[in-house]
Amino acid sequence: MRDINIEVKVQSLFINELSDKERQLAEQAYIAAERAYAPYSRFYVGAAVLLENGAIVSGNNQENAAYPSGLCAERVALFYAGAQYPNIPVTTLAVIALKGGEIQEHVSPCGSCRQVLLETEQRYQRPIKILLCGREDVLAIEGATSLLPLSFGKEYLDK
Ligand code: THU
Repeated sequence: MRDINIEVKVQSLFINELSDKERQLAEQAYIAAERAYAPYSRFYVGAAVLLENGAIVSGNNQENAAYPSGLCAERVALFYAGAQYPNIPVTTLAVIALKGGEIQEHVSPCGSCRQVLLETEQRYQRPIKILLCGREDVLAIEGATSLLPLSFGKEYLDK
C-alpha cells in the first residue's frame, strides 16, 4: 500500500492585494449577486469571469420552483461567456455569495460547476484562476484541477 497525497495551494489575499482587474471582477460578482433570482434558498450568488480580451461577463444563480431546473451563478457566467465569446479564453473567475444582505465567507463552486470550469480550462488549454471572495480577504486557487483532483475530463474520450 502506498499513500498518494494531493496538495492544493490556496492563497489568502487582502482586497488591496488584488490587481485592478481582479478587484473589478470581484465588484462585478457582488453586483451580480445582488441581482440573483433566488426566491427559494435566499442564497444570492454572483460570479464574474474575466476573458483574455479584457471583457468581464457576470452571472448569478437562477432558481426554479422545480428545484433541479435552476442553475448556479458560476455556470450561468461561464455558459454566457461561452455563448457570447466562443473563442476567447477565460482567465479568472470570481465568486461571492450574499445571505440576508451579508457577504458569506469564501463560498466555493459546487461539483457540477467545478466540472464545467475544468471543461473550460481544457477547451482553451489554460488554467482559470478562481477567486473566492470573503468579507475582508479573497482565497485564490490556481485552477480547476486544484478544486477537482482525480477529475474526469476530455483526455479519457480522446484516447
Ligand atoms: N449556488 C451557486 O449559485 N453557486 C455556488 O457556488 C453554490 C450554490 C446556488 C445554487 C442555489 O440557487 C443556491 O445557491 C443554494 O444552493
